[in-house]
Amino acid sequence: MTIRNYFAIILVIIVIGIMSACNSGTSPLHPDDGILRFVSADICMGCHQRVGNEWIRTKHADALPALESSGFVSSSCYVCHVVSLDGNPANSGYDDPDPTVATRFGGVQCENCHGAGSSHIATLIPHNINLDAAVCGSCHTDVHHPTYDEWQTSAHARAINERDTNTHFGVACLECHSADYIFADSVPENASVNDFQFSITCVVCHDPHDNDNEFQLRKKPLDLCYQCHTSEGAVPGMSPHHPNGDIYQGLGGYEYPNHQYENSAHSSFEEACVTCHMWTAPFSATGSGENAISGHTFLPRIEACNECHPDATDFNIYGAQTEIQGLIDELTAELDAATANDKQTVSYQNAKFNRDFIVADGTRGVHNVKYARALLQDSIDDFEPGS
Ligand code: HEC
Ligand code: HEC
Ligand code: HEC
Ligand code: HEC
Ligand code: HEC
Ligand code: HEC
Ligand code: HEC
Ligand code: HEC
Ligand code: HEC
Repeated sequence: MTIRNYFAIILVIIVIGIMSACNSGTSPLHPDDGILRFVSADICMGCHQRVGNEWIRTKHADALPALESSGFVSSSCYVCHVVSLDGNPANSGYDDPDPTVATRFGGVQCENCHGAGSSHIATLIPHNINLDAAVCGSCHTDVHHPTYDEWQTSAHARAINERDTNTHFGVACLECHSADYIFADSVPENASVNDFQFSITCVVCHDPHDNDNEFQLRKKPLDLCYQCHTSEGAVPGMSPHHPNGDIYQGLGGYEYPNHQYENSAHSSFEEACVTCHMWTAPFSATGSGENAISGHTFLPRIEACNECHPDATDFNIYGAQTEIQGLIDELTAELDAATANDKQTVSYQNAKFNRDFIVADGTRGVHNVKYARALLQDSIDDFEPGS
């Protein structure tokens, strides 16, 4: 146990002692006057040790020293790097008039996300948990780190809206479309899509406490995106949806026997999808004050391609998209010529599946040109309409 843990437990004992034994408001932390106060992470960690031991290793815990060592500090900086800078000393927090109290509130702590905790530790009624991206967005915003601003424009921010426009949208769909479904302890059998409100918010991808993966990601980049961008094991006879992660890895198409399928160079990127879909740039990258780019629109950018294909001006590099679209069109013409008898054949089912699979990916092959080309070409060769 660390010294910090001992300190935390002693503080908890003192605070609980004061709160239960005294009504007169003698503690500088918790005069018992009914005002909701911030108590600091040291207190929370006394009871929530597992979470506390994770959080202490995140950059959030060190956000104040990071600010102070930057060499650019001004009074306007603190608001996103400490707990409670609202100018109301009754709340306690980093602006508490007592400096021994104030210093305990440096960094982004539990109460920045969960809210002031004095009432929770007095009653032990479970504290607030909020999955809204706006919680993170209160700090992860503005020209230096427009993460929330970009995320709001992304398809991920709209994922729950499908319930209002798509009549096939049921509760099971929420598994990939809604944060509150993903984090629900249990979902009642008669739940309706309207019981859920959040789309794919920050905490779907980021663990608010745990820093085992870089950037507090819940999974390594490929596994993270592939958990949803998957064809879910679709096979011929079914309609494949969003097979982006499968195609990228060279999986999931109908593979003809005795053919070795190869992957394009992209399939071995360390950061996988992130390489092209989350290209970033710092604030004022060229020195003329442009906004930073956080990568959280998730849209592919030509600047990402240019890291390795310096002359490219669009995604149709080497004319690959034109070539793959040509193969899609050729196969589609064959499938359209199929007779009623053809449609009963395995050969037709396989070929149709591969065509749908490449079309559903939506990139005309960019995710894995070699795999897309081989699946389409093999399907064209294998299926003969009217035979
Ligand atoms: C005196 C011990 C104690 C302290 C101090 C304490 N908690 Fe709790 N906390 C609990 C208990 C007990 C629960 C209820 C657990 C349950 O009912 O499942 C709880 C529940 C919670 C929950 C809800 C967990 C869930 O799964 O729904 C959150 C969030 C939470 N606490 C955050 C905090 C924060 C933030 C602080 C500091 C401001 C804090 N706690 C301080 C004991 C404590
Ligand atoms: C609107 C909230 C907000 C304000 C105000 C703010 N910061 Fe930050 N700061 C952040 C966030 C969010 C990050 C994390 C950015 C990321 O990783 O995308 C951060 C990260 C940092 C970092 C560490 C990461 C790095 O870029 O090396 C430093 C240093 C820093 N800020 C300094 C400052 C200074 C100096 C000021 C005042 C001029 C300031 N901050 C004002 C929210 C804020
Ligand atoms: C950056 C925001 C953020 C910070 C900082 C943060 N939490 Fe949380 N916490 C959340 C969110 C969001 C959830 C729900 C999602 C989840 O469980 O991963 C959560 C879940 C919890 C839970 C219930 C789930 C569990 O793992 O037991 C507890 C308890 C909790 N937090 C306590 C704390 C304590 C104590 C601290 C400080 C040591 C803290 N949190 C810091 C945002 C935060
Ligand atoms: C009170 C302001 C504040 C809130 C609220 C906040 N953050 Fe941060 N966050 C920061 C600052 C400041 C940093 C930079 C700390 C540093 O580099 O020292 C940061 C850093 C991060 C990092 C970078 C970690 C790394 O290892 O590089 C991630 C990821 C992150 N925050 C995610 C979140 C998420 C997700 C939420 C909401 C659940 C959230 N933050 C809520 C201010 C905040
Ligand atoms: C395995 C995860 C997953 C499940 C389950 C899921 N979706 Fe999606 N959905 C996605 C992904 C990923 C996208 C983005 C695909 C893209 O744009 O290429 C998406 C996009 C959509 C879109 C946007 C329009 C489009 O097709 O581009 C609609 C509508 C949609 N899904 C409806 C549904 C319905 C209805 C269900 C339940 C029957 C459902 N989804 C279940 C992952 C899922
Ligand atoms: C769909 C998954 C996903 C969602 C949703 C998401 N992120 Fe991220 N985020 C990532 C990935 C992946 C990275 C790592 C990018 C990289 O390696 O460059 C990242 C990186 C970050 C970083 C570190 C940036 C840096 O370069 O230091 C911060 C801070 C961050 N995200 C905050 C947020 C916030 C705040 C939200 C919500 C507004 C959010 N993220 C939503 C996947 C996501
Ligand atoms: C929790 C599930 C989930 C995760 C994790 C996830 N996505 Fe998505 N993604 C979706 C859904 C659902 C949509 C479609 C939302 C809509 O339009 O309704 C989508 C849409 C997209 C789109 C826009 C597609 C279009 O047609 O415009 C891109 C690009 C994308 N995601 C990339 C990524 C990347 C890269 C990652 C990993 C960093 C990732 N996604 C992680 C579920 C997810
Ligand atoms: C080599 C760069 C690259 C990598 C790596 C990459 N993508 Fe893409 N992705 C693209 C490009 C380029 C497009 C847009 C193609 C176009 O619109 O012509 C795209 C489009 C998409 C779309 C939208 C498809 C649609 O229907 O409009 C989704 C969703 C997507 N990618 C998800 C992913 C996922 C998930 C991964 C990782 C498994 C990934 N991408 C890896 C370059 C990449
Ligand atoms: C990290 C480096 C890197 C990035 C980023 C990258 N590529 Fe590539 N790409 C390669 C390599 C290596 C090859 C194989 C060598 C070659 O053919 O140039 C390749 C090959 C290709 C091919 C031919 C594939 C084949 O197997 O026939 C296309 C098309 C392509 N890239 C498109 C893109 C697009 C579009 C983007 C941006 C959205 C992109 N690349 C981003 C490294 C990269």
